[in-house]
Amino acid sequence: MNNFDFYNPTRILFGENRTASIDEHIPGDARVMVLYGGESARRTGTLDEVRQALGDRTAVEFGGIEANPKFETLMRAVETARAEHVDFLLAVGGGSVIDGTKFVAAAIPFEGDPWSILTEHGANVHSAMPFGTVLTLPATGSEMNHGAVVTRAELHAKLAFMSPHVFPQFSVLDPTKTYTLPQRQLSNGVADAFVHIMEQYLTRPAGAMVQDRFAEGLLQTLVELAPQVNEGENDYAVRANFMWTTTWALNGMIGAGVPQDWATHMIGHELTALYDIDHARTLAIVLPSLLREQRTVKAEKLLQYAERVWHITEGDDEARIDEAIAKTEAFFEGLGLSTHLGAYDLGEEAIDAVVEQLEAHGMTSLGEQQDITPAVSRRILQRSL
Ligand code: NZQ
Ligand code: ZN
Repeated sequence: MNNFDFYNPTRILFGENRTASIDEHIPGDARVMVLYGGESARRTGTLDEVRQALGDRTAVEFGGIEANPKFETLMRAVETARAEHVDFLLAVGGGSVIDGTKFVAAAIPFEGDPWSILTEHGANVHSAMPFGTVLTLPATGSEMNHGAVVTRAELHAKLAFMSPHVFPQFSVLDPTKTYTLPQRQLSNGVADAFVHIMEQYLTRPAGAMVQDRFAEGLLQTLVELAPQVNEGENDYAVRANFMWTTTWALNGMIGAGVPQDWATHMIGHELTALYDIDHARTLAIVLPSLLREQRTVKAEKLLQYAERVWHITEGDDEARIDEAIAKTEAFFEGLGLSTHLGAYDLGEEAIDAVVEQLEAHGMTSLGEQQDITPAVSRRILQRSL
């Protein structure tokens, strides 16, 4: 196991009707900015619950944060927060609203060009405004981690930043908030969390027994829950387990002390920035092909994954690896997420464009071995045609 620091200060307020508890975790005299997305927070009544929980505190509302939050929109939120002398932020929504709020939190006190927070991936962030979240969509893990992804439309750039200053102080995880989600967002959530786990687990053995067993448990939980989540029935026990799994998929625990491979996400971000494909759907396109392309360097972990997650014990090594990758692909397809670029009417020209953007963003040595060069990314995408 590699050396690691594990730090995660986010308080989780889990369960039905927990929104009222935010009152105990926001200073009584705070000037709060409530950030939300399009219409869902208002339509579902969550915004009203939040208003009630904030009581007499001054609250400024900022709506309109779009899926794959845009730098331009978030900078308007920064201006409003400064003008209104806000001192606490509250995100009400899914990964996009939470990520957007993290950026706003870091940008408010930031001196210099705020876009550099993204181009420097957070290394230049030295403080941020405190914030909490009310999660309405289980998928990204943003509610309990220190990462965020922001898009700059004019540059077709979707870049991530990380900073220990942008851990949420608290996150409300109420499984009943997922009852209003459309089926497309539920299946996206399953796939996104599945890939988060895979990118921290499916690399090379590091002798990290706890992280491996946790990762395998989380993957198996998703495989078990997926049919029920995908069906869309509002079952509390199913949604509670689903929500908690997506949080654990990316809260730092399973990634501590192990090699990681975020190539699927980096290639996926370019697909979203260029062609506006849902985040999780880009991952379903890339991951199975990446596993095929990297099957030699990942062989040991692929065999462990085959046996422990899919119970594949028959056949020689190559056959078991083939079957594990086929099961992964079938898992995404079973959720209704295509694993092919063709499903989005994209072909060779799209691959050229993605590879060009990866180069422009310095994504030229991806993977746990840093061996996913632009030429390898091209081959991965060609396998997905
Ligand atoms: O905008 P509204 O009207 O609120 O609708 C949203 C949005 O259209 C809707 N929605 C959310 N909660 C709902 C609901 N509809 C009905 N009922 C509810 N309870 O769902 C739509 C999608 O929301 P979004 O927040 O975009 O989805 P998700 O949570 O999947 O977030 C995706 C973003 O997170 C980033 C992605 O790149 C993408 O930008 N990620 C962030 C990560 C992190 N911070 O660690 C890691 C991930 O890998 C990911 O990259
Ligand atoms: Zn993701």
